[in-house]
Amino acid sequence: MVRLVRLEGKVAIVTGGARGIGRGIAERFAEEGAAVVIGDLLTEEGAQTAEAIEKEGGRASYLRTDVTVPGDLDALVALAESAYGKLDVVVPNAGIAIAGDIEHLTVDDCRRQFEVNFMGTWLTCRQALPALRRNGGGAIVITASAAATHPLPQSGLYGPTKAAIVLFMKNLALTVAKDHIRCNAIAPGPIVTDLYHFTAAQEQAFVDRWTPELPVGFLGTPLDVANVALLLASDEARWVTGSVYAVDGGFNT
Ligand SMILES: NC(=O)c1ccc[n+]([C@@H]2O[C@H](COP(=O)([O-])OP(=O)(O)OC[C@H]3O[C@@H](n4cnc5c(N)ncnc54)[C@H](O)[C@@H]3O)[C@@H](O)[C@H]2O)c1
Repeated sequence: MVRLVRLEGKVAIVTGGARGIGRGIAERFAEEGAAVVIGDLLTEEGAQTAEAIEKEGGRASYLRTDVTVPGDLDALVALAESAYGKLDVVVPNAGIAIAGDIEHLTVDDCRRQFEVNFMGTWLTCRQALPALRRNGGGAIVITASAAATHPLPQSGLYGPTKAAIVLFMKNLALTVAKDHIRCNAIAPGPIVTDLYHFTAAQEQAFVDRWTPELPVGFLGTPLDVANVALLLASDEARWVTGSVYAVDGGFNT
C-alpha cells in the first residue's frame, strides 16, 4: 500500500498562522507535504512557527502581513510564487474577537471587528485569486466560527462577522467554480487559544462554561480543526465547494 501524502507538492498560504488554529493548520499541511507561507502580524511567533516546521523537515516561510492591507497580501502571494513556484491553497484564518455586549461596544470596535475578520478575509481571497488562476485552480478554506449561526450576546459583533464570512464564501464559491477554484469554510466551536487573551483563571472558567454545552464532552484543539481544513484543501475534496463544516464537538447540532 502506498501512503497517501495529501498535500504533496502543494503550496499554501495561511493567514493568522503564527499561533493558535492557524499554526495548527500550517503544521498539519506541512506534515502532509505542502510548502506553507504564513502571514501574520506577530513577527516573533510567525518566524518561530516557520522555523519549527522547517526543523521537522517541512517547508515554511513567514512574512509580516496585515490582512487589512492589500499590499501586504500581494507581497505574501508573491513570496509563495517566488519561493515555491505557485499557489494552490489559501486559508484566510486571521481573526480577532472583541468581547462586549451590543450596547457597550463602540463604533471603533465595530469597524475593527469587521475590518479584520470580514474585510481581511475578502481581501485575502481577492489578492490571491489571480495566483490561483495562474495555477489553473486551487482551494480556499476560510475559518468561520460556530458563532456564525449561534447567538453569543457577550460577543455581540464577532458572530455577525463570521455570518458575513459564510455568505461571502458561498458567493465566492459560485463565482470561481468555473476557474477550478473550490471555496469552503470551517466553523470551529470553542477552543482555548490566545484569541481571548485569557488569564489562567479565565481559561479554566471558559473550559467549565463550554464543556457541558458540547455533546462530545470536551473542547477541541487546533489539530481538530486542522484535520478538517486538510481534507477541504486536498484534492480528495474535489467535489466539495460552497460548504460550511462544523468542527465543534456537536455544539451547533
Ligand atoms: N478559538 C476559538 O474558540 C475559535 C472558535 C471559532 C473560530 N475561531 C477563529 O479561528 C481563527 C484563529 O483564531 P485563534 O483562536 O487561533 O486565535 P489566535 O489569536 O491565537 O490567532 C489569530 C491570529 O490572527 C492574527 N491576526 C490578527 N489580526 C491580524 C491581522 N490584521 N493581520 C494578520 N494577522 C492577524 C493574530 O496575530 C493571531 O496570530 C480566527 O478567525 C477566529 O475567529 C476561533
